[in-house]
Formats: sequence, C-alpha cells, structure tokens
Amino acid sequence: MRARWSSRTIFLFAAIGSAVGLGNIWRFPYMTYKYGGGAFLVPYLIALFVLGIPLLIMEFAIGQKLQKGAIDAFKTVNARLRGIGFAAIFSGFVVVVYYAAVMAWSLVYFLRSWTNNLPWAADSKAYFFGEILHISEGVGHIGGINWTLFFALLAVWVMIYFCVWKGVKSAGKVVAITMPLPIILLVLLFIRGITLPGALTGIGYYLLPDFNALFDAEIWLAAASQIFFTLSLAFGIMVAYASYNKPNQDLVKNGYITAITNSAISLFAGFVVFAVIGYMSHTTGAAVADVAVSGPGLAFVVFPQALSLMPLAGLFSVLFFLTLLSLGIDSAFSLVEAVNTVIVDKAKNIAQKKIAAIVCLMAFVLGILFVTGAGLYFLDIFDHFVTKFGLVLVGIFECIAIGWIYGAERLRKWINSVSDWHLGSWWNLAIKWVIPIILTVLVVIQFMAEMTENYGGYPDWAIALGWLSVIIPILIGIILAVKPGETKVNI
Ligand code: PHE
Repeated sequence: MRARWSSRTIFLFAAIGSAVGLGNIWRFPYMTYKYGGGAFLVPYLIALFVLGIPLLIMEFAIGQKLQKGAIDAFKTVNARLRGIGFAAIFSGFVVVVYYAAVMAWSLVYFLRSWTNNLPWAADSKAYFFGEILHISEGVGHIGGINWTLFFALLAVWVMIYFCVWKGVKSAGKVVAITMPLPIILLVLLFIRGITLPGALTGIGYYLLPDFNALFDAEIWLAAASQIFFTLSLAFGIMVAYASYNKPNQDLVKNGYITAITNSAISLFAGFVVFAVIGYMSHTTGAAVADVAVSGPGLAFVVFPQALSLMPLAGLFSVLFFLTLLSLGIDSAFSLVEAVNTVIVDKAKNIAQKKIAAIVCLMAFVLGILFVTGAGLYFLDIFDHFVTKFGLVLVGIFECIAIGWIYGAERLRKWINSVSDWHLGSWWNLAIKWVIPIILTVLVVIQFMAEMTENYGGYPDWAIALGWLSVIIPILIGIILAVKPGETKVNI
C-alpha cells in the first residue's frame, strides 16, 4: 500500500510549505518594488492564473492519478518520456544542495542572535562576507572549507533527514509546524516593522504603482519566472506530494488554495521587508534605492543591520532568522522527498530510511563546495542556470508530454471526475499552447542574454560548469528517449 498523508489539510500544508520559501521574502518584494510597484501585480496575477495554477493542477493530477513520483509517472505516459522526470529530479537535487547552504548561514546567524549587542552591528556587510562566508577573491580561489558553516550544514542535513526519514509520515508531522510558524513570525515582524519610523515611506516604495512599467516586456518575463519558481514547479515535488493522496481526492481546489495562499504570503512578506527597509533608510539617511536589494544581500546584510538598530535587537533578530529557517526547511525537504519518492518507487526492497539517509548524505557531501570560500560564487552560478534554464525546459517538456502525448483533454476529464470545481477547456489551451510558448520565449530571451556576456562576469570555465547542470539532464533525457524500455539502473 502506498503511504498516505494523514489528511487533506496536511497535504495542503506540505504543498504550501514547499511553495512558501526564501523566494517569498527575498525575491517577490524586491521584484515588485523594482518592476513598477503595485503595477507589477498585474503581470504577476496574470502569470499566476495563466501559467502557475494550470501547471500546478497538472502536476497534482499526474501524481495523484498515476500514484507515482516524477520518473515513473512520466514513464507510465510513455517509456521514452521518463527523462522528463529525471531532469526534474536532477534539477531539484542541485537546488537543494545549495539551498541547504543558505539554511546553514541562517542557522549561524540564528545562533549568534541571542544578544542585544549583535556582532554584526558595526558593519553587517563585512560581517556577512568576511566572518560568515570567509569569501575568497573569486570563483577560482576555493579558499578552503569554512568549518563553522561545515558543521552548520551538517546540522541542517541532520534536520532535513529527520523530516523525511519516514517519508510523508514524518514530513506530515513536521509541516504541521513549519508551514504555520513562519506566517506567525511574519505577523510578529510586521507588527514590529510597521511601528518603526519610516515604515510607511518604505511601503510606499513597495507598492506605489507605476503603470508605465507594464509596457516593458522584461517585467512580464520576470513575473512568469517568479510564478514558476515560487510554486516549486518542475522539480517533481508537486507530483511526488500528490502521489500520496488517494486517487479520488478532490483536486482543483487544492491547486487554487496552494497557489493563492502562497501569493498572499509573498504580498504580506513585502510589507515586512519594505517597512524595515523604510526604517533603515530613515535611520541611516541612505536612499531606499540603496538599501532595497534582493537575495542574500537582503536577508544577510540589510536585514541584520536594520535589526541591530532596533530596540530589543536580539529578540527580533532571533525571530527573523527563525523565520528564514522555518521558511526554508519545508521547501528544502520537499526537494529531498521528490528524489526519495522516485527511488522508493523503484527500489521497493530497500528501507525508506536507508534511501533517505543516502540521499541526504550525498547532498551534504556535494554541498561542501558551497561552504568553501568560493561557495557563494558557485551558489550564484548554479542557481542561475538551474532556475533560468533547467526548470523552464522541464516545464516545456512536461506540457508537451501531457498536453500532446498523454492528452490534455483526457487528463482534464479525469481531473473533473474527481474535483468539486471543474476545469473549463481553457485549461487544455493553457497546457498545449500558452504555457509552452511563454516558457519557450523565456528560454530564448535568456539564452540570447547568455550569449552576449558571461553571467555575473564569471570566467568561462565556471560558466561551463553552470551549463553542465543544464546539459547533463538534457543528455540523459535524450538517451532515455532513444532507449525506451526498462531502465538498466538497479538501485
Ligand atoms: N518555492 C520556493 C521559494 O519560493 C523555492 C523552492 C523551489 C524551494 C523549489 C524548493 C523547491 O522560495
């Protein structure tokens, strides 16, 4: 008997927990600010309904109907297509290897937050790059292993292991805490943030709309890629998670609930982020444009500094880094669970705990690269290539496989037969045409940008490594397509 989530609510918690991650706090608010403030919500919401929700429903449907993880699910559609599942899992594995490193940084910050004299108060930037990362002068200088981060990474992997060691049985218990906890913490941080001087000015920068921005094609593409990433699509996660539902479980509503909750949390996180940015600008006299950044710079430089300026700095710093950890953990283990699911599908005679242990150990060992002095550079490169190419390509092939080979109409009929809310035939159009075309445009534009200059100015060999993370799954996918039939790999 296939394992099951203990209830529908727990499944939803798990799906939402995966979707709501660091991207909701360090990517969405900054993008909104940068791409026209409130006006950005127009392309964002369109992308959510045209691209995100139909794809999410498709992934839920594949997993739930076929009761398999990504590789076997696509294999059931056609043996030549199992490479799509493989590519999804491969990309997800690359992501979790570096995602865990970010969690390791968060853990170190969390442990050092328990004082009102925060150690980074004097210079948060120097603290992050120097004290925390021991950053080297360039990607070519590995600079040795950073042992503090090494042990933090080990601790993160031990945590992840105990989240997934019994599959959905353990993960289901964990998400009951890790899904709601960051929301509660964000509410506390919001109350703190909004009562700080300068907060409203900051929020003005976040949301004041500039509708002219809508004429810029770039913001439409940015919205599309954000939706894709934020819903954890194309990693095999949502397929694996839905495969632990009963086959006749109501489905369409799950897609809407997951997607809309995730976006609502993103929007809310933006208030927290920009209240704090406004405060920072008010207190230090720096322009909002100079303190509004995205990614690690926001979470590990701007926020720590702003926190150090507040009364009860230690308390809010503890809360903030706990927010990051609790946001990250369920996204991280969802990636591991997607990998474990495909192996458990295949290797029925190997204990689940053993599989989980091997996957976590491998990811930890590979992750050591990201806790060296050059770790941040490698993280930046792999993140760029996997999210800009690997995932989008998987998305395109998923749509072609389901839309054209399995048959969008066939799947839609099945979805409607189990769902309270029915999908109209617009869904077929989205899966067969609209989504693959939009994603292809995204890839082509991105590819042209890659050809004009090296991403981030990195040397050619480093860029080549990034490309490998895209090319390997494509090559394996092609080999699997040429050689259908049983996989020879015995795991
Ligand atoms: N959805 C997560 C976020 O927005 C990112 C993520 C994607 C995490 C896929 C895990 C897997 O942060």
